[in-house]
Order: sequence, then C-alpha cells, then structure tokens
Amino acid sequence: MLNKDGLNETERLRRGSMDARHNADHYEDPETVALYADFRAEGLFDREARAIAEFFPESGRILDLGCGAGRTTAPLREKGYDVTAIDVSAPMARETARATDADCLTADASRLPFRENVFDAALFSSKGLDELQPPNARYTALREIRRVLRPGGRFAFSTHNVLRQLVPFPPTPGALADRVRFWLANVREGHVGTEYKHDILDKEEGVVYFGDPLSEYRQLRASGFRVLEFLGKHGLPSAYLGPEYFVVAEA
Ligand SMILES: C[S@@+](CC[C@H](N)C(=O)[O-])C[C@H]1O[C@@H](n2cnc3c(N)ncnc32)[C@H](O)[C@@H]1O
Repeated sequence: MLNKDGLNETERLRRGSMDARHNADHYEDPETVALYADFRAEGLFDREARAIAEFFPESGRILDLGCGAGRTTAPLREKGYDVTAIDVSAPMARETARATDADCLTADASRLPFRENVFDAALFSSKGLDELQPPNARYTALREIRRVLRPGGRFAFSTHNVLRQLVPFPPTPGALADRVRFWLANVREGHVGTEYKHDILDKEEGVVYFGDPLSEYRQLRASGFRVLEFLGKHGLPSAYLGPEYFVVAEA
C-alpha cells in the first residue's frame, strides 16, 4: 500500500533505518565525539537553564537523554542532581562517563532500561529526540520517557520547527534563499509530505524530524504528557517561529 509520500511502507521503513544508520555513524565517529567534548565548555543554553530553574524540582533524579559528551550532564551534576545520562552512541556515553561522575550508559531512548516512575525530570537537549527513526521510534521514545518519569515529573526538550522553513524570518534575501535551498533539496530527495526532512541548513546535515506546535502538542498528549510551556528566546513569536521549539511538559 502506498502512503501519503507515494512510498510503500517497506520503502519508508528502509529509508528511515538508513537515515538512522547515517545519524548513528556520525555520532560514533571519534571526530564528532571530540567536537562534542569541546562543546562541553558551552554549558547549559539559556532555555535549558530556564527550564531547569523554573520547571525542574530543586533536587532529585534526572534522566539526561542523548547526553552526547556531557554538555548538559556536567552542569546538572554541579547543581546537585542525581543524574543518569544515556546515549545510543557508545563512544559518546563513554566520553560523558570519563568527564563527569554521572551514571552513564549506552541506551536507546525508545527502549529505556529503567523501571517506571523512577525519574523526577528528563532533558533531551539539542533536538536529539528528532534523530529517532523510523518515525514511530520518536513516538515510542515519548511514551518511554513518560513511563520512567514519576507522575508530575517534568520533561524538557528541543525539536525542529517546520514553520521556520515556511516563513523566512527575519525576512531577508539570505533567509529566503536558505528556505528555497531547503525545499529544493527536500523535494529532490522525496522528503516532502513526511515529518522527516534533510536539515541542509545545519552543519551536521542529517535527515531529522521537523514538527509544528499542534502536532507536538498532540503527540505529547497522546503519550500521557500535559504541555506546560513552549519557551521562546525573546518573547512569544520566537517560541513558535524560531528554528526550534523548546517544550516543557509534565508527566
Ligand atoms: C545533537 S547531539 C546532542 C548531544 C548533547 N545533548 C549536547 O547537546 O551536546 C544528539 C545526541 O543524541 C544521541 N541520540 C540519537 N538518537 C538517540 C537515541 N535513540 N537514544 C539516545 N540517544 C540518541 C546522539 O548519539 C547524540 O549524541
């Protein structure tokens, strides 16, 4: 049976797993791990720090998903949280274990090796959730994260915004040219009509999930979360028109 992309389901899943393999190879590459180790010096980004300060409990057990080389793990430990950091890339998890004193393990966010209700909050930073493929793996991960959070536990994450690719903002010729390049590449590669797009404007250039606020809201609700806030960088328009959404939800 053909789906809305004109692909049969087997082809869609095959493509999804090829794209996932590409992303996995990228994060297992020693050069990428070294790059992310340098990235640790950046510490928490503004919206991550705000989400933690405003929505996370003052103490407790935190799950740091897709921890990379530990950019968010180290500051969470410094704040005194009991942190468990996971990454599907074993070299990334090892680097976080080397650089921090958090519990670190290699694990896939769509198959979490934890009992239910054991974490007080979870963070999936830098749009890592969008790398889960095939498409239903991202949805499975949302339900897994809900399962391991205690009722009332908080989940903060960033995710690609497809609206940003439709509205050149700010409306400069450069922004317009970028949008045209983005859509030409995605039409050429057959990614139109699916939630997964080739992120050609990002240096790392993977095929990743691009969502919109309504579908994000629906997926979170269907996974058992209540959406608390879309955090903007500079006020309300940036919460919905920025390159990414930063969402805080409650289990
Ligand atoms: C963009 S990097 C961000 C790393 C780190 N959070 C940071 O901000 O520096 C995304 C990370 O998510 C990880 N990742 C991708 N898919 C994953 C999955 N299914 N389960 C756990 N981690 C995953 C990647 O291996 C990678 O380390």
